[in-house]
Amino acid sequence: MIKNMKIAIIGLGFVGLTFASVLASKGFKVIGIDIDIKKSRQIADGIPPFYEDDLEKTLKIGLKKNLAITNNFSSIIDCDVIFITVSTPQKKDGSIELAMIKRAVTVIGKTISKTRKNPIILVKSTVTPGTMQHVIRPILEKQSGKKAGKDFGLISNPEFLQESSAIKDTKFPHVIVLGGYQTKFMSKMKKIFANLHPKIPIIITNHQTAEMIKYANNSFLATKISFINQLANICQNIPGANIDDIAKTIGLDPRIGNLFLNAGPGYGGSCLPKDMKALINFANKVGIKPKLLDAVEEINLKQLEQIMIMLEEKLGALRSKRITILGTAFKPNTDDIRDSVGIELIKKLLKKRATVTIYDPKSMNNTMKVFGDEIFYAKSLPSSLDSSECLIIMTQWKQFEILNNKLIKSMKRKLIVDCRRILSKKILDADYHAIGIGN
Ligand code: UGA
Repeated sequence: MIKNMKIAIIGLGFVGLTFASVLASKGFKVIGIDIDIKKSRQIADGIPPFYEDDLEKTLKIGLKKNLAITNNFSSIIDCDVIFITVSTPQKKDGSIELAMIKRAVTVIGKTISKTRKNPIILVKSTVTPGTMQHVIRPILEKQSGKKAGKDFGLISNPEFLQESSAIKDTKFPHVIVLGGYQTKFMSKMKKIFANLHPKIPIIITNHQTAEMIKYANNSFLATKISFINQLANICQNIPGANIDDIAKTIGLDPRIGNLFLNAGPGYGGSCLPKDMKALINFANKVGIKPKLLDAVEEINLKQLEQIMIMLEEKLGALRSKRITILGTAFKPNTDDIRDSVGIELIKKLLKKRATVTIYDPKSMNNTMKVFGDEIFYAKSLPSSLDSSECLIIMTQWKQFEILNNKLIKSMKRKLIVDCRRILSKKILDADYHAIGIGN
């Protein structure tokens, strides 16, 4: 019965496109909608607009089965379930920009005013607590002339997938959260998800708690990273101390867990930094000074400052110094550079008039869109080192593990700053510094 449902997914970014591709590849009737015409056409041709493991394959299977891509919202009129996956970017004050989601729900409201169906609308976009009740529901009810909970279902359904494992996370999520009133729509969605993911816990709660769960999740992950980064900084001042052994050991304590304890140059990407800022902004608005969250953010920003201080200590003035940066993607196995710490580092180096060469296995094109001819783009990892006076490893790409004495020979000065300790086990003929290892 559920395979006959018609599902609309609105907003074909990381979450929307992955979700649409996975559902369609499983045989569901799916319509993916995005207002960007060029992007929609590209997706309809089976080409994802960003790199994600297995996405192209899954999308193509979906397109062959029952996935239609359009930029026309009227096609949601006969849909049974509508997922909203548009982005909620960051505003200058840290709060989230709701313009896109408001636009989407306005059109959805107008469209469902004409249907006899009782569609269920699920919001996957990350929104601060209260947004569903005070912004989304009133718009939908006004535009449709219908009542949530009676004429249509309205459910908060936060998403926890990670870029670089988006397909896997969508197929095998660790939890499903459904927030909203206990209506027939909620029971129906619970059944549908239980059918889709038989062994996965389903948490049923209200809207505001579901909205808060998403921020709790991401801010806890950010806290783990800043915690380990702070310890890494302490370790750097203890000769011989090694943060990886510490992380591995404390990670074996089941109360702590071994994930997200990988010290580095700070967290980046389109989610953790944005969600931390939004939660801090929200906490202040409701009268709570979020000291811990403030510290998590401050520690994160300091990681990069410390790298800059170390560079100036070692190299003196950075003007005209040739510096190689390995990795501009915000993490490995993606070409996404949004809020990437590597990109921030390049900006800081350019301010100091350093000569920057970069290499990244996937994100060269995206990096070029930001910096144009302000920096050099190496054709290969070895050539990125030619005449370089300093090598900084920012992203934990597997490809960088091949670095050795032979490859670094072409450097003019063998100063290496390894933010991911990729080379920490090698004996290098270099002035080697790693985040989290005491010199
Ligand atoms: C994050 C969350 O992990 C997802 O659960 C969530 O669904 C998503 O945000 C979202 O809100 O959409 P993602 O942005 O893909 O996912 O990236 P992460 O894997 O969380 O990595 C974020 C940053 O933290 C990266 O810069 C990464 O290098 C850094 N990181 C991560 C570390 O420095 N150390 C670690 O141990 C783990």
